[in-house]
Amino acid sequence: LSNYSRKITNDQFTVIGHRGDGGSAPENTLAAIEKGIQAGANMLEIDVHETRDGVVCVMHDERVNRTTNGQGKIKDLTWDEIRQLDAGSWFNAKYRGEQVPSLEQVIEHIDGRAQLLIEIKKGTPYYPQIEEKVVSLIRKHQAESWCVVQSFHMDILQHIHQLDPNIRLQKLAFFAIPALGFSFDLSFHSFHPEQESFIESYNLNYLFVTKKLIRQLHQEGKKINVWTADSPGVIRKMVNMGVDGVITNHPELANTLKNKQ
Ligand code: G3P
Ligand code: CA
Repeated sequence: LSNYSRKITNDQFTVIGHRGDGGSAPENTLAAIEKGIQAGANMLEIDVHETRDGVVCVMHDERVNRTTNGQGKIKDLTWDEIRQLDAGSWFNAKYRGEQVPSLEQVIEHIDGRAQLLIEIKKGTPYYPQIEEKVVSLIRKHQAESWCVVQSFHMDILQHIHQLDPNIRLQKLAFFAIPALGFSFDLSFHSFHPEQESFIESYNLNYLFVTKKLIRQLHQEGKKINVWTADSPGVIRKMVNMGVDGVITNHPELANTLKNKQ
């Protein structure tokens, strides 16, 4: 068989742009979100934190230092102060003036053109009411069909589920061993996907994913996405192993490689 005839079209495969399209634009900005959409990502992943005055805003780190020209923790800054920051120049001078978006701005910008995977991070101390705020923004924009929440923290996912059982949820972890009943995120946890009916997908580090694990999770009716799959070799390997999606800084590349060889 030629390579061409051995290709299996992977229509269900989910290409998830990491921090928008973190490889080609400053992560977690509207520019990165738009790049990801144009690259054909099915879903855009972002991280959220909360400002001192309670605005849910989009950034990976707890501090603004790495990705803006400011300093300090998001929880100590007001939304007005964060809006003054330049979140683009650190990546490339052509993005000078790109702002830190709020979650609401991201939802309005995407407007259902792709799915949105919202990762809720735990600040230190933990952001009060962040789950309520995320749920109410999704509802306000009637975006339940295309917004999904992921977290390393099961208590956050449980809280979201209590607030609105219709919101789709994905559990982040580094690895999971179903036979031993535990997973590892930032500490060890019991892992019982058969009891976690509210979790649709386990999003694991690609280094620890095996065919057996994929089979076990599929048997429980769960999906498995991997992070962060950036090189052509890793993306191809994950596709051929049978994962359901990749979280990647290169969604355009993943789109060209998503068909099994
Ligand atoms: O989506 C998975 C990945 O984003 C988790 O790691 O540090 O990039 O948020 P991090
Ligand atoms: Ca993330």
